[in-house]
Amino acid sequence: MARHLITSAIPYINGIKHLGNLVGSQLPADLYARYLRGRGHEVLFLCATDEHGTPAELAAAKAGKPVAEYCAEMHVVQAQIAEGFRLSFDHFGRSSSAENKALTQHLAKRLAEEGLIREVTEKQMYSVADARFLPDRYIEGTCPNCGFESARGDQCDNCTKQLDPTDLINPRSTVSGSTELELRETKHLYLRQSEMKDKLEAWIDSKTDWPVLSTSIAKKWLNDGDGLQDRGITRDLSWGVPAQFDGAPWEGMDGKVFYVWFDAPIEYIACSQEWVAAGKGADWERWWRTDKGADDVTYTQFMGKDNVPFHTIGFPATILGSGEPWKLVDYIKSFNYLNYDGGQFSTSRGRGVFMDQALEILPSDYWRWWLLSHAPESSDAEFTWENFQASVNKDLADVLGNFVSRITKFCRSKFGEAVPEGGAWGAQEEALAEAIAGRVKAYEGFMDEKEVRKAAAELRAIWVLGNEYLQSAAPWSTFKEDPVKAAMQTRLGLNLISLYAVLSAPFIPDASATMLAAMGAEGAGWPEDVKAALSALSAGHAFTVPDVLFAKIADEQREEWQTRFAGIRT
Ligand code: 2FM
Ligand code: ZN
Repeated sequence: MARHLITSAIPYINGIKHLGNLVGSQLPADLYARYLRGRGHEVLFLCATDEHGTPAELAAAKAGKPVAEYCAEMHVVQAQIAEGFRLSFDHFGRSSSAENKALTQHLAKRLAEEGLIREVTEKQMYSVADARFLPDRYIEGTCPNCGFESARGDQCDNCTKQLDPTDLINPRSTVSGSTELELRETKHLYLRQSEMKDKLEAWIDSKTDWPVLSTSIAKKWLNDGDGLQDRGITRDLSWGVPAQFDGAPWEGMDGKVFYVWFDAPIEYIACSQEWVAAGKGADWERWWRTDKGADDVTYTQFMGKDNVPFHTIGFPATILGSGEPWKLVDYIKSFNYLNYDGGQFSTSRGRGVFMDQALEILPSDYWRWWLLSHAPESSDAEFTWENFQASVNKDLADVLGNFVSRITKFCRSKFGEAVPEGGAWGAQEEALAEAIAGRVKAYEGFMDEKEVRKAAAELRAIWVLGNEYLQSAAPWSTFKEDPVKAAMQTRLGLNLISLYAVLSAPFIPDASATMLAAMGAEGAGWPEDVKAALSALSAGHAFTVPDVLFAKIADEQREEWQTRFAGIRT
């Protein structure tokens, strides 16, 4: 039994995530965690809400609430939705926790002691009316290049030109609209990442098994322009981890906090401390400290491609630079983007399906299956309603659901609600068991490799084998001449249901639980020996016919949803 630490990128607190966000981090991480638990490994699966930064402050202001209260409420909302999608976190923490505050400040102090932090005085836009410094993207004005009137301080959305806030004509604060802006001096802490370039590069170079998406993004940042840049790790904000602590060697950091991207990944570690504090675990250090046993841990992170630089450079620089024995990630599984029906998901325009809405219209297994079987691994992928409908109706309803319903109903009608006895496997059954065993091996291989789409395709192929067997063995025909043989075929069919339930649990946990309950096989473990697993339910074992596992999506439903999710979210 191995030990696996799994983290999913932690979603920002402001707002509910769309399905593209879900499939790029939390959902595949959950798939992997469920699979490894199913195989009997010890797993610690962590996620949290990413609560600091200006977007959280502004969202709270918009909601008319103090930011701490807003975050506490939104954390509960996100936790409930995660539960709705059956995301099996061992703990869903908060980056605003006391644990993260202490650990963030501790690591910053260690970095300073190692000589890896320098102070930089720079000029930044200050809004007198808002009494605060403004991040570049919270300043708007007219683009000097194209005349667009709502260009942001970092970039013009109209002509895409990269801008500096001082380039803008008639700049104004997007917080208050005030034009009373002035450049003021401010001091910030910078992490000397440039000092660590060789160490980081050697580490990335050693990761020959990572997806190219992960290593190529890391290499780009390491060697971009003049090489790896030092990174500002503080901001002029009030909401966040204060950039100071007892014995801080810096003057003039009052009113400043650590940059949200500095403290967010540290929450991966702090979350395990919160897990212990919540009474769910006894020892976090054996997962994170290589001097306390974490050398035996395999640590896998899941994230969208936009998060890769922070996980291949930023966070490793923090923990390597600390000089302390922290566990580094072993594998970074990153994802491309999921697009929505001919365009992009858009949080601001409410385009696409958001997690809460998805659960309002269909159970989580439908979404889990489609998203995972179409995960944007080797390139961007696209959600279309036609494809979703086809995939649900064919894979889930016709292939799996129909198999379960046919065999259980047939058995009930001819033999009653218990596994029938009599007969012995013939060549066809032996061949089926062998074919399934081969595909189960392949399925395990893809799951171990975190090849999500390929694993889904293999699982579907395993379902198809059962359908083909049933079609060709046709116990309903056999029954007329040879009821004993029909009993044997039916017994195998019922055993296939519980095998499918176990294998499918990482993808569709609810349907899997329904199937296991119907088969009275709740305790069934991973099929280390497929042939044995196909005889596990012996004659006389009681079962029930489950309710329809998957309802088909009708054309009218598809059309209605297509219209409903095309535009502005209200
Ligand atoms: O992109 C995002 O949603 C970020 N909140 C991810 C942070 S992951 C990490 F660093 F913790
Ligand atoms: Zn422009």
